Order: sequence, then C-alpha cells, then structure tokens
Amino acid sequence: MFMNKQAITFLSLFTLILVLSIYYLLVPPIDQGDTVSKKSLSRIEILQSELNKNHENKINDNNTVIASSKASEKEISTALTSNEKTKAIIKNEKDIEGIRKSGIINNGALDLIASKICAGMDTETINLLAHNYIVEHGGIPACLNYEGYPKSICVSINNVVCHGIPSRDIVLKDGDIVNVDVTTILDGYYADASRMFMIGNVSDKARKLVEVTKECMEIGIKAIKPWGFVGDIGAVVEHHAHKHGYSVVEDLGGHGVGKKFHEEPFVAHFGKKNTGMLLVPGMVLTVEPMINMGARHVVLDPVDEWTIYTKDGSLSAQWEKTVLITETGTEILAD
Ligand code: MF3
Ligand code: CO
Ligand code: CO
Repeated sequence: MFMNKQAITFLSLFTLILVLSIYYLLVPPIDQGDTVSKKSLSRIEILQSELNKNHENKINDNNTVIASSKASEKEISTALTSNEKTKAIIKNEKDIEGIRKSGIINNGALDLIASKICAGMDTETINLLAHNYIVEHGGIPACLNYEGYPKSICVSINNVVCHGIPSRDIVLKDGDIVNVDVTTILDGYYADASRMFMIGNVSDKARKLVEVTKECMEIGIKAIKPWGFVGDIGAVVEHHAHKHGYSVVEDLGGHGVGKKFHEEPFVAHFGKKNTGMLLVPGMVLTVEPMINMGARHVVLDPVDEWTIYTKDGSLSAQWEKTVLITETGTEILAD
C-alpha cells in the first residue's frame, strides 16, 4: 500500500496520542505525595458543608457563629475551625518526610546531650554539643538568631520555665532539674523537642515534678485524635497537673510546627474538650507542657528579655515532642 509523507506523519501522531491517552487512563498517576492532605482537605469540605446545611441561618460567610446559634459546642468549634487556617497547615507526605528526617537529627542531638550532661558542665558546653551535632548532620539550629535569640538551644534550670540562654557562667550542679530544648531545621523543615535531665541526687519532690510533667505530655499526646479538637489536649494535661497539686503555665504553649518554627494552632495546656481548632490528619504540632510546683504565673527577665522564670521562684519542668496527626492516631516525629 502506498501512503504519502503527510499521511504517515498524521498516522504516527494519531497513534502516539492514542497510546498516551490509553496509558494515562489505565496507569494511575504517580503519587505526588499529597494523598494525606487531599483526604483531609476533602473531609473538611464535607464537614463544612454539612454544618452549613444544618445551621444555614446561624453561620455567616466567615464561618462565624452568630450569637443566637443553638449549635452544640462541637459543632460551633467545627464551624469556626474548618476554614482556611486549618487547611493552610496540613502537611503533605513530602513535608512529613522532611520533618521526620529533621526529627532524626534533633533526636540525635538530644541523645548526645543525654550521654554527656553532668554536674560541673556549663550550659554553653551543652549549646555547643547541640550546635555542632546539628550542623555536622546538615541541619541548622532553629533557635540561633530566631527573633534575635543569641544561642542555638534553650537550657532552663530549676525555676527557669523556658528560654534559658546558655552561658559559660551558668554551671549545672548536683540536684538541678534541667530542660534542654532543641529545634532543628533540615531542608527547610522544623522539628522541635525537649527533655528534662536530673543532675546527680535530685530531691524526691523535684523528681516527682519531672515525672508528672512527662506524664502530662504523654497524656496530652494520647488525647490527640484525628477529627478531635486542640482543646482535648489542654483539658487532660490540666487535669493531670492539678491532680498532683501543680499548676500549668498559661502564657506559653505548644504550636503547629514543620514549615515554620511556630505555626497555628497555639496548643494551650489547659482548657476544655471539644473546643479550639480541629485536629486533622496531616497536622503537625508540639505538645510541651510547662508545669510549676507553685503558682502558674511567670516573669520575663528584664535584662536579657528571653529567660522566663516562675514568679514565685518555685520549680518548673517541661517536656516536648513534635507530633504528627495521622488517619488513625499519632506519630512522634521528634522527641
Ligand atoms: N523551642 C522553643 C519551643 O518549643 C522555642 C524557643 S525560641 C528561642 O517553642 F528563640 F528561645 F529559642
Ligand atoms: Co516548641
Ligand atoms: Co522547643
């Protein structure tokens, strides 16, 4: 059979297009790493539209519940939070993997400190241990120069609640309880965790504060359920702290984390169940209760403008983990 050049070109182009169309129809698209976030986003849309249907006249365009609303607490909370703010902080699988890798370095830095920390060590030495470890592993210490903060980590001893600035002049001594808070940036992804260390012989009272504070963090993390609420965390943390006669610092709290150091939502360690922002698969946040032996009130150092102390001079403890909310529960990304 004879065909001219034009016909051949046409036929081969036609065949190419046909083959490509069949390929795209039959072969599922390569996972771009955002199935988690897509699922979460569409579920939010569904929740939102259901709610709007049920409460058409009670919720205005900005998802603001009008005063006369008879919606339940849970529904009001859903309405207020299933909005752009929530959507903006949901991570895709690529983001999650990035934070996970950053968390591995952050954990390594804390493990190194755990193996070295002892009485007689000044807090600048701890700072350098963390700084060098993070940098040697390709990361950046997030604290360094963060809003003018002068060091790479925070080291907070006894009555220091948080943001203690490492110094050659601050030396650990027997009986101290110390929080070391490390945050790593790797490839633009943030992982944030802190641990308590007990130096030498610590009093039973101080040891109990450290242990109960750890339980507060763990209970707070257990309270995280996909499609629950941020307030669920604070409610259980507060209950546990009060049960032991301790107070919960209210002026500072946990936070969304991952693409920035501090993202939405603010994670209060006190409050009410079924209130606050929705907890959505793909969200990453920290749980980091600061628990005081005395009153909850804190004061800021007027000289360095960073160090935060308990107002009454009582001991304070803190533990922190970076937590991913999954379809079924949680995954710890840094501890
Ligand atoms: N790592 C702290 C947190 O858990 C923040 C420290 S900010 C700094 O949120 F500037 F003081 F380092
Ligand atoms: Co934090
Ligand atoms: Co931290």
